[in-house]
Amino acid sequence: MRQSALGVYRSPITGEPLSKAGDGSGAIVEIRDLSGNRFPMKDGVIDFTAGAILAGPDNDARRSYDAQAGDMYENAMRWLWQAFNEDEASVRNATLDRLDLRPGHRVLEIGCGSGSDSELIARRLTGGELFVQDISEQMVRLCQKRLDNLPRSDVAVEYSIATACPLPFEDASFDRVFHFGGLNMFSDIGGSLREMARVTKRGGKVLVGDESVGPWLRRSEYGKIVMNNNPLCAAPAPLDKLPENVRDVGLNYVIGSTFYLISFTVDDGPPTIDLDLPHQGARGGTMRTRYFGQLEGVTLEAKQMAIEAAKASQRSLHVWLDEAVREKASQSRMEPPPAPIESRDGDQRTPSKR
Ligand SMILES: C[S@@+](CC[C@H](N)C(=O)[O-])C[C@H]1O[C@@H](n2cnc3c(N)ncnc32)[C@H](O)[C@@H]1O
Repeated sequence: MRQSALGVYRSPITGEPLSKAGDGSGAIVEIRDLSGNRFPMKDGVIDFTAGAILAGPDNDARRSYDAQAGDMYENAMRWLWQAFNEDEASVRNATLDRLDLRPGHRVLEIGCGSGSDSELIARRLTGGELFVQDISEQMVRLCQKRLDNLPRSDVAVEYSIATACPLPFEDASFDRVFHFGGLNMFSDIGGSLREMARVTKRGGKVLVGDESVGPWLRRSEYGKIVMNNNPLCAAPAPLDKLPENVRDVGLNYVIGSTFYLISFTVDDGPPTIDLDLPHQGARGGTMRTRYFGQLEGVTLEAKQMAIEAAKASQRSLHVWLDEAVREKASQSRMEPPPAPIESRDGDQRTPSKR
């Protein structure tokens, strides 16, 4: 592991920076945070999950993928491409085209599996860095073996075993973040999407995809057969779980419209708005007064009177009401405050004027 790569990671437990510890022979055997939490490093892979109690779905995923890593997993993937009459390389390459990789980018792939996309990313990244992670050690090892066998790759690759939430990476570390195929089963889908945005640089891009039959197909026999075959295909594309600081959100469907691809760029906070820009017209007001300035409801008769009075005075309803309330309120301040009355349950209440 490169020293510069260590600065990209952080403790998933405390968020603290990490340091290496050796065994005396020069080999790094452990990564530690400032609070003393220790993460073993074996054959170039850091295990951020060692000793951790994983959430139920994450634990199930780890067990399942550790067990199927190898032929069983590759058979299932082959079935997918054949059943939907798709060419795997074409679909994966077209998907990665959407990531807009550039030379020198630092890229994170979450849930790398056996490395089918990791290999394509590594082939596209000239002089860049690729961090791959997965919750299953067996999957990370398959990915590592595959990338180790790549001829003449000038990409630096770093491997870790970790959950997608929390991610063991510093804020704003990556130009691109990619995930395909596991999100539906992550224990915290919204949290994982927030984590992907957190570790992406401002202006950087995230691309994430998983099973979900396109909404327009769900009532068709095609859709029903697909969802019956794999219930995960009934999952919705999680647009509603994106954090508020994403922009340029895109949604596409691939593999017979049974997988969504959501892409977005990352910015600071929600979009900015001018809360105080006045509306022209009869209602008037601003986004601020319409949202924060709402009063109790009035009778329909009083409302109609206000509308007509505003119209007659050639003011917007907002301006007329604002003036009317201020005028009435300042008059009230000059009057002696009304005496409190006993409510039936014993509370002190101010009598309302009718
Ligand atoms: C269907 S495989 C897809 C692998 C690869 N992305 C591909 O397209 O071939 C899903 C992967 O997500 C990983 N995974 C599942 N839950 C995870 C989690 N909570 N955090 C990180 N990886 C997870 C699994 O171990 C598995 O390797």
